[in-house]
Amino acid sequence: MPKPTSTSAKTKKKPATFAVAILAAGKGTRLKSSRPKVLHEIGGKPLLAHVVAAAVEVVPPSSIFAIVGHESERVCEALRSTGISFILQSEQLGTGHAVMTARAALQGFDNVLVLSGDVPLIKAETIARVRDFHVASHAAMTMLTAEPDDPTGYGRVFRKIVRGKETDEVDRIVEQKALRGKELQQREINSGIYAFAAKPLYAHIGKLGTDNAHREYYLTDIAVLLRKAGEKVLALRADDSNEVLGINTRMELAQLDAQLRNQKAGELMLAGTTIFRPETCDIDADVEIGTDTVIEPFVQLIGKTRIGADCRIRSYSIITNCEIGNNVLIRPGCILEDSVVRKGAQIGPYSHLRPGSDIGEGAHVGNFVETKKTRLGKGSKANHLTYLGDAEIGEGVNVGAGTITCNYDGVNKNVTVIEDGVFVGSDSTLVAPIRIGRGAYIGASSCITEDVPADALALARGRQVVKAGWAEQRRTKARAQVK
Ligand code: UD1
Ligand code: CA
Repeated sequence: MPKPTSTSAKTKKKPATFAVAILAAGKGTRLKSSRPKVLHEIGGKPLLAHVVAAAVEVVPPSSIFAIVGHESERVCEALRSTGISFILQSEQLGTGHAVMTARAALQGFDNVLVLSGDVPLIKAETIARVRDFHVASHAAMTMLTAEPDDPTGYGRVFRKIVRGKETDEVDRIVEQKALRGKELQQREINSGIYAFAAKPLYAHIGKLGTDNAHREYYLTDIAVLLRKAGEKVLALRADDSNEVLGINTRMELAQLDAQLRNQKAGELMLAGTTIFRPETCDIDADVEIGTDTVIEPFVQLIGKTRIGADCRIRSYSIITNCEIGNNVLIRPGCILEDSVVRKGAQIGPYSHLRPGSDIGEGAHVGNFVETKKTRLGKGSKANHLTYLGDAEIGEGVNVGAGTITCNYDGVNKNVTVIEDGVFVGSDSTLVAPIRIGRGAYIGASSCITEDVPADALALARGRQVVKAGWAEQRRTKARAQVK
């Protein structure tokens, strides 16, 4: 069979430049919130962060501009690490006004992609599809449209009909409040996502007016202005209408959060993680999980948590910003925050790993054990009812039931060092700062206030007293008194 030859029909032309403008200045009145709308979270991440994450896959952060206004400092602060730029729209006079405000930053680019800070599920591929369609068809404006099950609340798109047939060209966009009669049945909606050629956009945007229900400059009105100027205005249908759903109310916030988590669980399952009853689990967008790990029902995996392969995370555990190695078992009801659990370790049930805990390879942390800023070495065990705070614990250490590190003297936090191979008997208190030398034994129920040398036995408890027959004598005496 002949080898297929590659058809290199690529023509080298200077590529057109693209900026992305994300409209994020609005107050989000319908959320009834004191927090800026775009900082409300789905999938554990602000709405705007989702949009930025998709945008940076299409253009570099230096070409991305978020237009901010309401509580702008909070928005900038939350997104600063992304490296995008911010443009202040100090008065929010509408989506058209937002794009006018950004003129200086945007007009130097050939094209501008406009995204909405409150349309968070948009995918990079879809933005790229709008861009490519826009460039290939030499349009002045391309709008992404969709036909969701319920179009209520969205601006509706009316296409030009030629000889009874719908075309790619947009005739007009009518906002919900302005829909009349038959128009109310129109299903095709404006997603609020557009590509513009910068030149015609800024040549005509100054003509927008505010003659509408909200007395705002609507960006959607630019479609008619451009069309009247003989420019091409096109509509491109999204393949998946779920991607362009906007958030205006708390109900929509909850719906999109559920949708995003469902999608995330689906991606993880396709990549080799088992998730039982995924609809009961909350897995944040940035969580990573290795293959053959099993996630049981009602688990929450939050923030930047990374879980290795062949782990089992049992029900009702909440894991936030943790690094979990391979082959780890987390039994039911554990709470883990900002901690590391190394391979083969076993945690729980009902363990609380507070920030800075580092549980070594094959180590065990059991029932009702709390750790904070504590390293537990390889193979060490703290299985029952224990508090380990500010502790450096070596390898092969056995921490008996009920052991407590007394790390706080009312002013300072002090460190407990337990060297390799130490055996701490049950119900011991270790008053820090203190060091227990390698291989030492602590007798059960000791209150240890001084360092213990290696291989020593430390006993710090009252000596047992036994009085033979005392109980029987006492009972006899008591009976005599009753008569
Ligand atoms: C807008 C569209 C509507 C579309 C819908 C899709 C207009 C007039 N209408 O309506 O056709 O179906 O999006 O979700 O554009 N914003 C600013 N500055 C402002 C006003 C708004 O940055 O002065 C931002 C908002 O923060 C928001 C986005 O622009 O992120 C959209 O504004 P919003 O008021 O939510 O518009 P919709 O009523 O949803
Ligand atoms: Ca909106």
